[in-house]
Amino acid sequence: MLLHRQIIPRHSLLLRIRSLHSSTRADIAPSPRVSAANTKDEGTIADAFASLAGAADVVLPERFAELKRTIVPNEAAARRVTAAWAEVLGELRTAEKEILDRGSDIVPQVNYADLSSLSGEEIEVVKKRGTVVIRNVVNEDLALGWKEDIKRYIQKNPQVRGFPADNKQVFEIYWSKSQIEARSHPHVLSTQTWLSSLWQVNPDTIPEPNPLISLSTPLSYVDRLRIRLPGDAKFALGPHIDGGSLERWEDEGYRRCYKNILEGRWREHDAFDIGARLYANSDLYNGSSQCGVFRSFQGWLSLSNTGPNEGTLRVYPNLLLSSAYVLLRPFFKAVKPLDSANSREDYLEASNWTLDLASTEFPNSVMGRGQELNEITHPHLRLENTMVSVPRVKPGDMVFWHCDGVHAVESVHRGEGDSSVLYIPAAPLTEKNMDYTARLAHAFLSGSPPEDFPGGKGEAEFVDRGNPANFLTVEGARAMALKEFEEWPGMNASDKRAIEHANRLIRG
Ligand SMILES: [Fe+2]
Repeated sequence: MLLHRQIIPRHSLLLRIRSLHSSTRADIAPSPRVSAANTKDEGTIADAFASLAGAADVVLPERFAELKRTIVPNEAAARRVTAAWAEVLGELRTAEKEILDRGSDIVPQVNYADLSSLSGEEIEVVKKRGTVVIRNVVNEDLALGWKEDIKRYIQKNPQVRGFPADNKQVFEIYWSKSQIEARSHPHVLSTQTWLSSLWQVNPDTIPEPNPLISLSTPLSYVDRLRIRLPGDAKFALGPHIDGGSLERWEDEGYRRCYKNILEGRWREHDAFDIGARLYANSDLYNGSSQCGVFRSFQGWLSLSNTGPNEGTLRVYPNLLLSSAYVLLRPFFKAVKPLDSANSREDYLEASNWTLDLASTEFPNSVMGRGQELNEITHPHLRLENTMVSVPRVKPGDMVFWHCDGVHAVESVHRGEGDSSVLYIPAAPLTEKNMDYTARLAHAFLSGSPPEDFPGGKGEAEFVDRGNPANFLTVEGARAMALKEFEEWPGMNASDKRAIEHANRLIRG
């Protein structure tokens, strides 16, 4: 039975969003504290993915076969996952037809101004697709101005690292003035609050009572930026899921998020239950660019007018199905491999797949890297047909996708203008997120890279680096743990506990 869910009532959400809007940039005085702990080597986004880094296949140690038998421990469990696997394969075919029919239109699009008044049905569509385009979050001219400012920052600091090294498109820049302004923009903070409000706290799935969490308090998770030029084919980031790879099965806390899928009740999986996620470790191997916090949605703010085929984001637009398939995939292998099956269709038939609890295979899961997916390792997703490009965006629009969402970047940029984004996800106040943010604040003041990202000096000696005077709002400074939180109308007991904890860390 579900009790006391921390669903944010509509009127509280409106009050919260208003309080984020009304904050001004006055009186933003930072108070530095704990030191940053970036123990990673210098690098770029290529280190996050085996395919970008050119890494070869690695055979996993025997303990991964044992892990499979821990997750599927007996005959009854084996029967349940086998039945679930067959159901998921059938549903994937149905989903594929719908995706082919609708193309990019399947991705929901909403206006920033309408966020607080969306109907229950509209919200369900966002949750089902796992992706949403939010229009007009920021004024177009402001977004274009941010891009020009970043270009000047790059010119003044030519030593900046990026990928690919010979023609940089994804820059190791975290602390430009534009990024500080964008992250602290009131509409960006309100959008993050709305996105996290789609999640809920379910006491049945939380291992400990009264977790420190405020879904209506956004924190800034600091990430890089992309200015992708026409013709680029190197930043070809194929279908993947961020937030680790093997960790989804290996880490007990993380695995609990997918309990229903792994026990065969895949339709009962609630991708928006924050419960077990609070205790998930998505970075068991200190991987470069592996996210160590909980992001309710990953996302970016567009700085360009960019449509399909112009180097934009692609997504698999059915969150429950892709999650169920990816989580069940390591437990099954083909009886007849593709090259000896009569046809690709025969190869993909459920009857050609059998339970595999003996091998160490976790297809395309590599320690310390993100979870990649392709036609060979995850054939039933039929990614060649089902990855849809997000609809055309203009500067100031934002796109968000669920933290378990399968996504990719178009392999070739065939457009005529740059395809540029600031990576800005949504991360609510939780204990782990706040601990990370408190350390992040120190990295900000010293100009070092955030600890989830490649290390080194970063922007410490860069000319015209952003600083706390660039925050557009007090709430932006709070989201960076540089200013204590205050109470707001409509806050609940959980919000209060969470901000008291946050303020203790901020005071140091
Ligand atoms: Fe990603």
